[in-house]
Amino acid sequence: MSSQKTVTVTDNQTGKTLQLPLIEGTHGPAAIDISGLYKNTGYFTYDQGFVSTASCHSAITFIDGEKGQLLYRGYPIEQLAEKCSFMEVAWLLLNGELPTEQELLGFEDRLTDYSLINESLKNFISGFYHDAHPMAVLVGVVGSLSSFYPVDASSMTPADAEVAAMQLIAKMPVIAAASYKHSVGGPFIYPREWLSYTGNMLNMMFSTPARRYEIDPVAEKALDMIFILHADHEQNASTSTVRLAGSSGANPFACISAGIASLWGPAHGGANEAVLNMLEDISEVKNIPRFMARAKDRNDPFRLMGFGHRVYKNYDPRARLIRKMCHEVLEKLGDSSDPTFELALRLEEETQKDEYFIERKLYPNVDFYSGIIYRALGIPTNMFTVMFAIARTAGWAAQWKEMLADPNHRIGRPRQVYNGPARRDVPR
Ligand code: ACO
Repeated sequence: MSSQKTVTVTDNQTGKTLQLPLIEGTHGPAAIDISGLYKNTGYFTYDQGFVSTASCHSAITFIDGEKGQLLYRGYPIEQLAEKCSFMEVAWLLLNGELPTEQELLGFEDRLTDYSLINESLKNFISGFYHDAHPMAVLVGVVGSLSSFYPVDASSMTPADAEVAAMQLIAKMPVIAAASYKHSVGGPFIYPREWLSYTGNMLNMMFSTPARRYEIDPVAEKALDMIFILHADHEQNASTSTVRLAGSSGANPFACISAGIASLWGPAHGGANEAVLNMLEDISEVKNIPRFMARAKDRNDPFRLMGFGHRVYKNYDPRARLIRKMCHEVLEKLGDSSDPTFELALRLEEETQKDEYFIERKLYPNVDFYSGIIYRALGIPTNMFTVMFAIARTAGWAAQWKEMLADPNHRIGRPRQVYNGPARRDVPR
């Protein structure tokens, strides 16, 4: 007799019962396997926004939203942020274990080779209007990489998938910095072998051939830690987009471009840009109550950007780490009394005393404080979500690779509850 746990569902209309298998992971709630439901009952399930639906098995990231816990491959985010580099974390996400010293050197070496972009891509970037949003450029240019690497994912070997993942991680900051340079009319700066991943990012954005640029180690370290905190977050909207696009066997560069598009929205990664714009609109502490009242008003679509999360019903651990980092970075970079940071802290304080936010468990999320650090590093507001995309590429690539390696993966194809017109004839 099978020891598989099951859940019994009863159809009240027919009285028929059905045993549905229960799938248990290593952590977190078990999932009811409903894949046979339609075949056995003729019913679909309905879950708008996928609030209660697991779409895959994954061994990469675990979130306990009630406890405010985030683990990459089992390691707590706090420990990774304190003890590891972004490169080590990217390797961890891709391969399941932290790299040895030799593996890390080999990884960084290969990324250096993959970081160059085809020279003709520079013409593509310069074809964008100068004030194109950098996320629009990123969506287009990353998608266009599929024409330079026209691989068919359905016939890729694991080694091919690994190369595609590394190409993406390596090229993303180069494309992002190039789009920034284009927006300010500056010259394209190539990546340098001797610089770290985040050192390169800063150098490609802020150095010019005319002037020597010293990378501030505080800025380099802060960016590295921010990248670690943004690297993966299990099956969020953009990651699910990458998986769904990839489930058809589509080209990996096109899939990541789809993920970037999803990330851009203000309800997801675009919130970091929206937070800074909102704080500028609030402008002074005395205006906080007015904005909070708007956020609570059901008839007003305004929401406090950087607050709330689908999974966290406790403080987002990434926001806690970034808030702490804000204090350190602003102090070290000489702007310890940044009025925007003061305003953000005050807004958090006021919301945490307010019944509406307490009842709904609305805490600051990863996007609330990150913009304050980006701004202190000289990164313009419209590049904030691009920074998120660079970091998240490690997670997207790892999740896409994991999906491809799963022998049971199938094309993603949700169903619907149709409520349009019944069949009718064309009146002619
Ligand atoms: N301001 C005011 N009220 C809010 C907010 C907010 N930021 N977020 C949620 N609520 C309220 C909702 O109105 C709802 O109230 P109700 O129960 O009276 O109807 C309740 O809290 C639950 O919210 P939902 O919309 O059901 O939460 P959902 O899980 O669908 O959305 C989301 C999560 C999109 C993050 C939402 O909280 C939001 O819009 N936040 C602002 C945008 C943001 O910061 N996004 C970044 C998220 S982190 C990331 O993606 C990297």
